[in-house]
Amino acid sequence: MTTVNADAEQLLSRHGKDLHAYFEKVLARYNDAPARLMESIAYSLYAGGKRLRPALVIESFHACGGDDSTRSSAMAAAAAMELIHTFSLIHDDLPAMDNDDLRRGRPTNHKVFGEAMAILAGDAMTVMAFELLAIDAAPGVVGAMVRELASGAGPEGMIGGQVLDMEGESKKLDMEQLRRLHRMKTGALLTSSCRLGAIAANASEETVNRLSSFGANLGLAFQIIDDILDETSTPEQMGKATGKDAAKGKNTYPSLVGLDSSREQADAALQAALESIEPLGKRGQALQTIARFVVQRTH
Ligand code: IPE
Ligand code: IPE
Ligand code: MG
Ligand code: MG
Ligand code: MG
Repeated sequence: MTTVNADAEQLLSRHGKDLHAYFEKVLARYNDAPARLMESIAYSLYAGGKRLRPALVIESFHACGGDDSTRSSAMAAAAAMELIHTFSLIHDDLPAMDNDDLRRGRPTNHKVFGEAMAILAGDAMTVMAFELLAIDAAPGVVGAMVRELASGAGPEGMIGGQVLDMEGESKKLDMEQLRRLHRMKTGALLTSSCRLGAIAANASEETVNRLSSFGANLGLAFQIIDDILDETSTPEQMGKATGKDAAKGKNTYPSLVGLDSSREQADAALQAALESIEPLGKRGQALQTIARFVVQRTH
C-alpha cells in the first residue's frame, strides 16, 4: 500500500510540475486582462491539488502509445481539464452551493476575492479551457477534444451532476439515483480525462472505449472515497473542511449504506476499472498505480 501511494505521489508530482510550467505560459497570454481576475485564477490554479485529472490524461495518452509528435495535444487537454475542474471547485465552494471556507489548504477563492470575482474567475476558466484546446491541440483532434470536454463538463456531465447534488439536499436518493449523481458530478470528468488522452494519441475507438470504462469506474470509486474521507479524515489532511456532507444533508455512500459497505463498493469499482485496462498490459501500469492510489489515498 505504501509503495503504491509513494509511486503514485511521485507520478502525480511529476505531472503537477509539468502542468504548472505550462499554466505559467498560458496565463502569460492574457496581458490585457484585469490583473485582479488573473490573480484570482492563479490563486486557485496554483494552490496545489492532486492534479489527478491531468495525470490521467497524460498516462492514458502514454497507455495508447502517444509519443512526442502528439504530446502538445495531450498537454493542452490536461491543462484544459484542470481548468474546468478548478472552476468547478471554485463554484462548488460558493455560499450558494456548498458554502466552504477552505480549499486546497487555503481560504476559498470567494473568501479572498469576493463572490462576484470567484464567479467570474470560474466563468473565465471555462472559456480559457476551450480556447487552450483551439490554440495548442493539433488541428486534427481539436473538434473531438472540444466535444469530449464539453460532454464531460456539461449538462449531462459534471454540471448536471452538481444540479442533482443540489436537488438531492432536500430528499433522500436511492442507490441507483446516488450512483447516477456520482457518475455525473465526478465520474464524467474522470472519464473525459482518460478519453482525451486516448484521443490525443489517435487511439482506435475500441481503445477509447476501454479507457472510458476505466475512467467511469474510477470516477465512481473516487467520489465514494471522497464521501468516506469527508466522514473519517481531517481538514489538515484534506486541505478542505470535513464532516460537511452530513451537516448539509448530502446524499453520500456512507449516509446510504454505511462506511464498510461504501469501502466494498469503492473496491468493486476499482476492480472493474482495472479489468477494463487489462488488455493494455504493461502499457497500463501507470494508470493502475493511479487507480489504486485513488482508493487507498488519505487526502
Ligand atoms: C475534489 O476533487 C472534488 C471532487 C470531485 C470530489 P479532488 O480531490 O481531485 O481535488 P484536488 O484537485 O485534489 O484539489
Ligand atoms: C464536488 O463534490 C464535485 C464537483 C463537481 C466539484 P463535493 O462537493 O463532494 O467536492 P468537495 O468535497 O467539496 O471537494
Ligand atoms: Mg458539492
Ligand atoms: Mg463541496
Ligand atoms: Mg466531498
